[in-house]
Amino acid sequence: MPFQEDFLIEQFMDRHEKDVKYNMGETCCHSLNLNELSELTGEKFELDQNVRLTYGSIWGTQSLRDLVAKIHSNGEVQLTAENVLITNGAIGANFLVHYTLAGPGDHIICVDPTYQQLSSVPNMFGADVELLHLDAEDGYTPSIEKLRRKVKNNTKYIVLNNPNNPLGSVISTEKLTEIIELAEENKILIVCDEVYSPLFHSSKQPKSLCQLSAQGIVTGSMSKAYSAAGLRLGWIVSQDKELLRQAASRRDFNTISVSIIDDHVSQYILKHRDVVLKRNFDLCRKNLTIMKDFIRSSNGKFSFVHEPEGGSVCLLRVEGVENTNSFATKLATEFKVLCAPGECFGVPGTLRIGYGNPTEDLIEGLKLLELAYDIMFPA
Ligand SMILES: Cc1ncc(COP(=O)(O)O)c(C=O)c1O
Repeated sequence: MPFQEDFLIEQFMDRHEKDVKYNMGETCCHSLNLNELSELTGEKFELDQNVRLTYGSIWGTQSLRDLVAKIHSNGEVQLTAENVLITNGAIGANFLVHYTLAGPGDHIICVDPTYQQLSSVPNMFGADVELLHLDAEDGYTPSIEKLRRKVKNNTKYIVLNNPNNPLGSVISTEKLTEIIELAEENKILIVCDEVYSPLFHSSKQPKSLCQLSAQGIVTGSMSKAYSAAGLRLGWIVSQDKELLRQAASRRDFNTISVSIIDDHVSQYILKHRDVVLKRNFDLCRKNLTIMKDFIRSSNGKFSFVHEPEGGSVCLLRVEGVENTNSFATKLATEFKVLCAPGECFGVPGTLRIGYGNPTEDLIEGLKLLELAYDIMFPA
């Protein structure tokens, strides 16, 4: 069996999530229930009682794939259902992409820090995964020069995450274009996890990789911006139909398809995408202001590693604390506040906070975070 390392963030969250009172660790914009969705959209979700509870279309229904294709299209690039494969969450999409592409002898460059799955899974399939550190001097986005120095003869693909989890940094269209040029010169593919898209908080929204590159492979889902992680529904989008065919063929051997009911609920949400996104942009904007006020009044105890430009998470530096794993564990068990330790992303001394959580959780959680710090690390 190939070696598979532990998935640190998923295990930390699972250990503490159910017992905390204030959850600032969750990365999704606060999940919605069907009643709240009806109120937001002005239309009740009704499952067509004639929908047969069968496997349905293995690739996802035509209507759902049309909706996902539309999200990833723009004036210049019109994608269709044929460019979309529906998967079991973005985690299923990422797994399938790496399962399809990575193998022994392949060199893969993956941004760091990021969601551990993106480096760990290709590594499990026997590829040599090299991390490309994201540095402050580059705005925590890939430096073209640093990237160029990592390219080898056997580099097969580059893995990006836009917006980035845990940093909240955003790769601009211009930078993406430069990465694509470098990749094309060297016949390298690019995979971009866009699960936090379209949560971009500054005025300039970057294009999706699959709009910019005919070989680009994008993953996404209903979990973060659409507040429906419980559906476990995601997608792979690419202009490269052969790549999608190969991924679908591998998927036949594990999950086959997603639930037909989840497919229908996703269609309902995506049809009302604008109101759901407005609710979540407003939530993130309000909570980010609270975060900034908290940081300002903390007198240097907490600071942004990078002030987030996109997504629903940010990384906070905790002054003078090296072992944030033990701090986050105490916060969860004794103060009933959940924050994810930076150690889960290879960044000790930091905590990851999800600012798409309910505002009350954030207000109370931040108060307790500071109280815990003052008690545990007196000046
Ligand atoms: C970057 C990234 N990719 C993928 C996922 C998994 O998302 P999903 O719930 O759609 O499987 C997460 C979840 O936190 C994530 O942060």
